[in-house]
Amino acid sequence: MPIERYLTIGEVAQRSGVAPSGLRYYESLGLISSERTPGNQRRYERTTLRRVAFIRTASRVGLTLDEIGEALATLPEARTPTAEDWTRLSRSWRPLLDARIAAIERLRDDLDSCIGCGCLSLERCVLQNPADRAAALGPGARYLEGDSPLDAARAAGSSTS
Ligand code: FES
Repeated sequence: MPIERYLTIGEVAQRSGVAPSGLRYYESLGLISSERTPGNQRRYERTTLRRVAFIRTASRVGLTLDEIGEALATLPEARTPTAEDWTRLSRSWRPLLDARIAAIERLRDDLDSCIGCGCLSLERCVLQNPADRAAALGPGARYLEGDSPLDAARAAGSSTS
């Protein structure tokens, strides 16, 4: 192998900002690949730097390594993502990120009602009861205002029929 085309794991780590252990982990997941020298040392193509930058950036916006792997697997012949690839893939992630942000905002709002409470009640706590069975009874803290979980079950049943 023409050695000038290749980087050691230390060189990739230094240039990418990902520790060698992280690079080995990426490699174990199939996100990057290396060749081995006769002495069994890893050598990475220079394009690995761009691939690692892709992984880090996608990870920074909240994608899991599984999702990043799925995205990379859509590229022909496992090529390193081009600028066009990045544009297409990042556009496809936008709805996913929007949904996650909305879910986190709902959790934050739900957490507000728990701060200073600590009951962790299945009947009262919206974080313990994410389906919000009391929602069918109307707005507000329904159980604290006297409605019962049975009322909620009846209301939910009547709203779906
Ligand atoms: S801990 Fe009491 S409402 Fe969540």
